[in-house]
Amino acid sequence: APHLRDCTLGSQILWAPERPSTNDTATELAKSGAPHGLVVTAARQTGGRGRQGRVWQSPAGGMWFSILVRRPCAISQAGDLTLLASVAVWRALASMGIPAEIKWPNDLLLNGRKICGILAQMRTDGESVEYAVIGIGMNANFTREQFPPDVREYATTILSEMNREVHRPTLLGCILTELDQLYRDLKAGVGGFAAVRDEWKAHAHTLGRNIRVRIGEQIVEGVAQDVDARGVLALRGEDGTVHAIHSGEVLFSEM
Ligand code: BTN
Repeated sequence: APHLRDCTLGSQILWAPERPSTNDTATELAKSGAPHGLVVTAARQTGGRGRQGRVWQSPAGGMWFSILVRRPCAISQAGDLTLLASVAVWRALASMGIPAEIKWPNDLLLNGRKICGILAQMRTDGESVEYAVIGIGMNANFTREQFPPDVREYATTILSEMNREVHRPTLLGCILTELDQLYRDLKAGVGGFAAVRDEWKAHAHTLGRNIRVRIGEQIVEGVAQDVDARGVLALRGEDGTVHAIHSGEVLFSEM
């Protein structure tokens, strides 16, 4: 098993009782030159942000953190980073006895309801990704009843599903070491992205199901058929047309 001491992520971890959004703090620090591996956490967020401009409920008891990744890569690979993060979170949860499933592109579900979301924001120079801020929100040690009724429909917490709390520092350490390991393997060419993709597919809740994907103003609906080597989702629409949905497209609509 990987060890945190060999890990380049989490070399510096900034904690605060409260922040508007850890992604915003991490982005500000990145702009002023903060190093690769910086992790910004908060006990709760007052302006937590989800994908597609949504509000992210961030009460005390959860895990709200953002990781600064300075590993230059081509824009075409940007989608890989988020898929990698979801696999890292899946592995970390599994190692703590929590059997999650991955919903495309990078949500984690427990008993069919969302327990974790990932919001990746990238700074690009037109051709390559200069840095990425990977924000992870884990509904850990609070109860589902704390969510507003509409959120409770589709979201849950580890405490509510497992009837126990998780040790958050341990889970954070596991996520960081797994993500670090995945980056290293990818860079070293161990199995290439295909290996990560296969692992992602093995835990996927999405494949074979009817889904809707919002891309900007457009909503594409159909059956999720496959994810290719770039993390591109093949969606078969009702008329039989297969749409290629790039995780990058969804990702970049967040910026
Ligand atoms: C989603 O919509 O599924 C993504 C949710 C991401 C939430 C996390 S919590 C830490 C970081 N800070 C934020 O404001 N959002 C992300």
